[in-house]
Amino acid sequence: MPVFAIGLGDTTFQQDVLVSSVSSNATGYLNSTQPVTATIQAKGYQGESIPVELRKGDEIIDTQTIQPEIPNSLQDITFQLPLETEGLDAEGIEDIKQNFVDAAIRAVDVGFDIIELHAAHGYLLHEFLSPVTNTREDEYGGSFENRTRLVKEIVADVRDVIPEGMPLFVRVSATDWFPDRESWTVEDSTELAGELQSLGVDLVDVSAGAIHPDQQVPSTGPHYQVPYAEQVAESGIPVGTVGAITTPEGADEIIRNGRADLAILGREHLRDPYFAVHAAQELGRDGPVPRQYHRAF
Ligand SMILES: Cc1cc2nc3c(=O)[nH]c(=O)nc-3n(C[C@H](O)[C@H](O)[C@H](O)COP(=O)(O)O)c2cc1C
Repeated sequence: MPVFAIGLGDTTFQQDVLVSSVSSNATGYLNSTQPVTATIQAKGYQGESIPVELRKGDEIIDTQTIQPEIPNSLQDITFQLPLETEGLDAEGIEDIKQNFVDAAIRAVDVGFDIIELHAAHGYLLHEFLSPVTNTREDEYGGSFENRTRLVKEIVADVRDVIPEGMPLFVRVSATDWFPDRESWTVEDSTELAGELQSLGVDLVDVSAGAIHPDQQVPSTGPHYQVPYAEQVAESGIPVGTVGAITTPEGADEIIRNGRADLAILGREHLRDPYFAVHAAQELGRDGPVPRQYHRAF
């Protein structure tokens, strides 16, 4: 089975063995509203295999050795960019689709409540969407219809295998931030969002950029990506917005004024892992405090 490492410390659902550990060890934590921190840590490259540890907090709950299917050693990948790449053939594309389906099934088995497909930030599906990176000449490249084909096929396949009614989100980069060359635009995102809704997607999580190092990032002040979400929402699908939302009042304002249906925070959860509890308290609501921590709040 191929192993894709996007960075040390990243989690992955590509390995059944890891999911069984998460499932048996962590689902109880999910249900008790405590954060689950199952982390795969590549401990270094040793010959043909990578030892990994699955951790829950500081506790090691499983150790495995995985075989990477990569052209060179991990060290080569880290230090010799850009890599030489080859376009996916038809079989490769089918494998990718199956990998998404398998990953979704694993996530459902583990007990997650929402599936979000990642089609943003320069990851593979974004690379198919964007004319900056997609130079294919087959039915997956060229026209808008062709570049969006893979995302839509995966959405349809995943929708088929997850429980009816389970929320399915797709994260997109609304724009490639390339105003002066052919690229993925907010208009493209809006059109795609409408098509995704008819395939059973419940919400589009609207981020931006990260397809190419030469992108022209605009000002990244507070709530800088909200206007993209507002535009994508014109397709009719519920939208999430993300980017420099840092306060309970700010998130509340976005929702209250109908600028998005969901306010998504990244870094603020790193700065304050109990942001959700604090935000609920500030806004006069009961926070999701784990029962055993009530005395702390
Ligand atoms: C340490 C870190 C890791 C991240 N990893 C991912 C990722 O794997 N996938 C993703 O879509 N975004 C990732 N992001 C981006 C966040 O999801 C989010 O879009 C971004 O940080 C902007 O939101 P914020 O201003 O609330 O942090 C990461 C951000 C940080 C700080």
